[in-house]
Amino acid sequence: MPIHSKLPSVGTTIFTVMSALAAEHGAINLSQGFPDYPCDPALLDALATAAKAGHNQYAPMAGLPALRQAIAAKLALQHHISVDPDTEITVTAGATQALFTAIATVLHAGDEAILLDPSYDSYAPSILAQGAKPVHIALAAPDFSVDWNAVEAAVTPRTKLILVNNPNNPATSVFSKADLDALAAIAERHKLIVLADEVYEHLVYDGLQHQSVLAHPALRTRSFAVYSFGKTFHATGWKVGYCVAPPSLTAEFRKIHQFLVFAVNTPAQHALAAHLAEPASWQGLPAFFQTRRALLAAGLSAAGFKLLPSQGTYFQLADYSAIRPDLDDITFARWLTTEHGVASIPVSAFYQKAPDQKIVRFCFAKQEQTLQAAIARLGKLRP
Ligand SMILES: Cc1ncc(COP(=O)(O)O)c(C=O)c1O
Repeated sequence: MPIHSKLPSVGTTIFTVMSALAAEHGAINLSQGFPDYPCDPALLDALATAAKAGHNQYAPMAGLPALRQAIAAKLALQHHISVDPDTEITVTAGATQALFTAIATVLHAGDEAILLDPSYDSYAPSILAQGAKPVHIALAAPDFSVDWNAVEAAVTPRTKLILVNNPNNPATSVFSKADLDALAAIAERHKLIVLADEVYEHLVYDGLQHQSVLAHPALRTRSFAVYSFGKTFHATGWKVGYCVAPPSLTAEFRKIHQFLVFAVNTPAQHALAAHLAEPASWQGLPAFFQTRRALLAAGLSAAGFKLLPSQGTYFQLADYSAIRPDLDDITFARWLTTEHGVASIPVSAFYQKAPDQKIVRFCFAKQEQTLQAAIARLGKLRP
């Protein structure tokens, strides 16, 4: 019995396709964004302790109070801001559910939402599922800077939401304070809500500072900000994240949240509350990842790739036009996987209409030996 699809043009994501191709060909998988090393044993112990202590029934709908308090304490330390754990923080089943919930909270059928491509693959389908329209603005390599005049020109009377991802996956760019000021001015002028995906907030390099909407007074009053413990604590399979928004936005967000998931994994929330209370658990992340970024970057350069700046996230973009100028990025990523045993992601997959770029994305959230093995294989690319 066929149904009228809400997402007729959505197929299997490129992440699933590339990971399956990598498995089929025994390739080293630098495509999908997840670590191949264990998370902190203390976090695992805390999970076991919570489960054995009997914390195995439904958590409160908004999240475990201890975890929401730990999040508020962390935000105070990180951004010197005061966030009310009772009325402004909701624990979610990963950032993906927080994003979907915020989008469903704001958008009605016929509304428009602006997003900046390259954009994470859940945004546009989540907008379409509401009967709303994603309006894509393409950013181009090498720096993927935002032309805020072009963003404002895309606003119509139907526009309700602007989505931003900072640090950006896959562009690896980070916003400056001037970017946030420009975003705030547009949002204020046109009475828009901002949805800020900040899952890579701690993965900012070379002394740059993460500019959060939460620390920007004008944006703080009109934004949903979304985070992922999976990214921060190397535990993407746990699927726990959270959303911070002012009380009036949070109240509406929770109306949807309670019927989408009601509550999130209880023992994981206990473990995360204990872990988050140790600032060292997140403060050392830039140094941890910069070593890996440097290792992969050196290997890619030696193999003939031209590197783009990687200011944030755990990805490195690489231009392959000196290696196979004849191939588009999807064909190149497949060729690299099947012929050379290293899987990447073609950046055109993150665009509605991709510019003419020859760029693939590699993930460096991997053990050093995984990166070394990939580099050894890529070393054979040079004639
Ligand atoms: C930009 C961005 N947002 C959201 C997510 C999803 O986070 P989670 O696994 O917590 O749902 C990802 C995961 O790759 C991501 O890259």
